[in-house]
Amino acid sequence: MTADAPLGLTAELTHRCPLHCPYCSNPLELLTRDAELNTEQWKDILTQARELGVLQVHFSGGEPLGRPDLPELIEHTANLGAYVNLVTSGLGLTEERLTDLVDRGLSHVQLSVQAADAERANKIAGTRAHHHKLAAAELIKQTGLPLSVNVVLHRANHDQLAGIIALAEQMGADRLELANTQYYGWALRNRDQLMPTREQLAAAEPVVRAAIDRLKGQMQVIYVIADYYEEYPKPCMYGWGARQLTIAPDGTVLPCPAAGAIETLNLDNAALTPLHQIWYGSESFNAYRGEDWMSDTCRSCDRRGLDFGGCRCQAFLLTGDGAATDPVCKKSPDRALVDLILGTPKKQAEFLMRGPRR
Ligand code: SF4
Ligand code: FES
Repeated sequence: MTADAPLGLTAELTHRCPLHCPYCSNPLELLTRDAELNTEQWKDILTQARELGVLQVHFSGGEPLGRPDLPELIEHTANLGAYVNLVTSGLGLTEERLTDLVDRGLSHVQLSVQAADAERANKIAGTRAHHHKLAAAELIKQTGLPLSVNVVLHRANHDQLAGIIALAEQMGADRLELANTQYYGWALRNRDQLMPTREQLAAAEPVVRAAIDRLKGQMQVIYVIADYYEEYPKPCMYGWGARQLTIAPDGTVLPCPAAGAIETLNLDNAALTPLHQIWYGSESFNAYRGEDWMSDTCRSCDRRGLDFGGCRCQAFLLTGDGAATDPVCKKSPDRALVDLILGTPKKQAEFLMRGPRR
């Protein structure tokens, strides 16, 4: 299977984060500071990524502002000619720091928001973060940078959907991504507490549709479905090893941000192996590329060009087989697993907050 060049790279600079969100999709075992790549290693990898064809670099984490060398890495990436995006909680973003990052070539900021009001948002974040986010949005708008607001939706904030949209408008967001929780990493531990109800999802639909129409040309509204409730899976990553790669804080190269969950996958490290070799030739990137790996169910299905057989991480986490048809699919022999999860009464237990603080 031949592959095209990658378009985007997510550089997870650190797993350290000031927030404790229960829906965190980072792995259960977070890497500590001493496992992180150093500045020169990152610069070398970013250069290799650009040579490979990467056009967009998303600096992410954890909280990328926790890395003192973030300005240097942004400058290096911008000088390579890539579009630079910062994915942040906004905590630690001061006027001085932001101005410096913009001077060095930052092009776009994605700011996470947990809910429509401070009380709910701080409860979900596990810390007093909401007022920092309002201040960060104001700073970002002052610099003239495009702002995306990212909100992870779940049972504890779905009822605030209209308020969240209003808040993103107030913040002056150019784009609002409303993404229902995906159950990987830490989020899987909280699945019972996070899973929205069918009623919440039904109520959300007209609210989102009206906002998309009303805000056309002003704020782009993207809604990512809660796929357990769907009949067909999402086209995860637009296909495995097709467009994107992620590099974890220690240099592990992942075909998707959650791919570390697939225990049968042999992952390579960009500090040890050239990125070109990993993208085109590695076992992990070729494992689910194209269609050869698919089960007969997917290989004989007309939708395989639309959803690529669904999500590999979800398939592994629910069935133990990364090559299985995504169990969300109604044609999957494992769909009963998803129906069982949906049909099991949910306890009103407290969230297990992400931690410990590092
Ligand atoms: Fe997608 Fe496979 Fe289901 Fe067809 S059978 S809809 S390709 S997951
Ligand atoms: Fe990894 Fe879908 S989250 S392939």
